[in-house]
Amino acid sequence: MLKGRHLIEPDNLTTGEIDEICLLAERMIVDSASYRDICRGKILAALFFEPSTRTRLSFEAAMQRIGGSVIGFSDAAVSSASKGESLADTIRTVAAYADIIAMRNPKEGAALLASRVSRSPVINAGDGGHHHPTQTLTDLMTIRALKGAFSGLTVGLCGDLKFGRTVHSLAKALSRYPGNRFVLISPAELAIPDYITGGVFAPAGIPWTSCERLEDVIGSLDILYMTRVQRERFFNEQDYIRLKDSYILDAEKMKLARGNMIVLHPLPRVNEIAPEVDADPRAAYFKQVRYGMFVRMALIAKLLGVL
Ligand code: NCD
Repeated sequence: MLKGRHLIEPDNLTTGEIDEICLLAERMIVDSASYRDICRGKILAALFFEPSTRTRLSFEAAMQRIGGSVIGFSDAAVSSASKGESLADTIRTVAAYADIIAMRNPKEGAALLASRVSRSPVINAGDGGHHHPTQTLTDLMTIRALKGAFSGLTVGLCGDLKFGRTVHSLAKALSRYPGNRFVLISPAELAIPDYITGGVFAPAGIPWTSCERLEDVIGSLDILYMTRVQRERFFNEQDYIRLKDSYILDAEKMKLARGNMIVLHPLPRVNEIAPEVDADPRAAYFKQVRYGMFVRMALIAKLLGVL
């Protein structure tokens, strides 16, 4: 039963519940008209203390496509946080107005704190460099649609694996399915945190390797998950400038990849995928955007308990 639950990190859902949400999202794709009024009278609060295009708008579009309405803000500067209000007080207040809350906040752990004081379900739409579970549902939907399963995959995670919250959530989610292995491609300074390799891969018996050159390993991958170097999480602009163009996926590198590899990216992209790759049938990042809206429609409906 998903009704009334919070979604803070991927582990809050069982694999069975993930299947349930993806299945509903698939039904919504083929027959959206049947679902357009299921959340009539319900309100989603979209609280974005950090910039967002896709995640915020896809939550808003998702809620409106199932008949609900949306309140919220897209900039912390226009909320009472700028007057010094605590997050707990903001959430208690908003939970009195809204049936469900989607929140993005630059601080790791903010969503967990919000869930502890909220009477409405809280969905973590990104807490600093920590987790981003609805991007993971989006990624899983895309993998299921294009690869047919979540297991037996060699997954390359490339770019900023240190600060990239989408990577942390996806690694955690895919580690629960059998036969997956990870290839971690990053500069040493942007390596994945130990809590993923030691705390997630090791206990699950997930094989992984790491390397710095994408071209050395691209030919072995079923999925290549590219990420942006997370400028906003750097302490020092010089480090960002030095590392920002560590990886650029282009047509030359795509020639080394398998014919059935897919390229995912949570977006926004900066330089890490050359626009020439967009026309390659293996480029799946704009398909991913569309799945993201449907999977959020399904998630909201389940957490509100309307289906
Ligand atoms: C990601 C995020 O916010 O973590 N974007 C998204 O939600 N689609 C990735 C990023 O910002 O690089």
